[in-house]
Amino acid sequence: MSESSKLTSEHIVNHPQSVTREQRSAANGHNPVVLWYTGLSGAGKSTIANAVDARLFEQGCHTYLLDGDNVRHGLNGDLTFSDKDRVENIRRIGEVSKLFVDAGLIVSTAFISPFMSDRLMVRNQLEVGQFIEIFVDTSLDVCEKRDPKGLYKKARSGSIKNFTGIDSPYDIPVSPEIHLNTAGQSVEQCVDLIIEQLKIRNVFV
Ligand code: ADX
Repeated sequence: MSESSKLTSEHIVNHPQSVTREQRSAANGHNPVVLWYTGLSGAGKSTIANAVDARLFEQGCHTYLLDGDNVRHGLNGDLTFSDKDRVENIRRIGEVSKLFVDAGLIVSTAFISPFMSDRLMVRNQLEVGQFIEIFVDTSLDVCEKRDPKGLYKKARSGSIKNFTGIDSPYDIPVSPEIHLNTAGQSVEQCVDLIIEQLKIRNVFV
């Protein structure tokens, strides 16, 4: 954050809103949460997040999906893959997710989000139970074999720098709410498991 934007925020006062989050939730018929998918590139985050989002939408939930590859074309189009820019990427997504939760939505985010401190920062901005971390646990070996966009090949050859898992770190989640071992499970099974967990956690019935 620049010095000038810090100075500006000093004189900004929150404006009260007439419609509360509770009213929006009640109207929607479910509780708002963030489903925060994290894992290596090619782990299956977007595929699973998309399938869960579709299932929730079919069941009448109010949802939105934020995906790293898409958001980096727009809102975060100015960011690179340096550590500093990845932190800013997640900070912005955390803020957007918080707004969507305020709007009463079930928001799914599919970002590598490699740093534990950033995931914790987003978690701490929300109320207890509103941040559901979903670790899409697919080994580097499998992701690299899949290599759907040919990016691992480029990273190995050195034409892409700072590639997660190759020459940029990934902090493994310590106690995610949901841990998907994708090696032994189909996309459908992962989706069923997540939906079941959301019911257990009273997100919807
Ligand atoms: S994050 O680390 O800042 O959370 P994000 O999820 O937004 O990453 O973007 C990851 C996607 O960008 C990957 O799925 C891949 O398609 C693409 N990508 C391009 N360059 C890199 C890189 N150096 N490291 C990781 N992913 C990259």
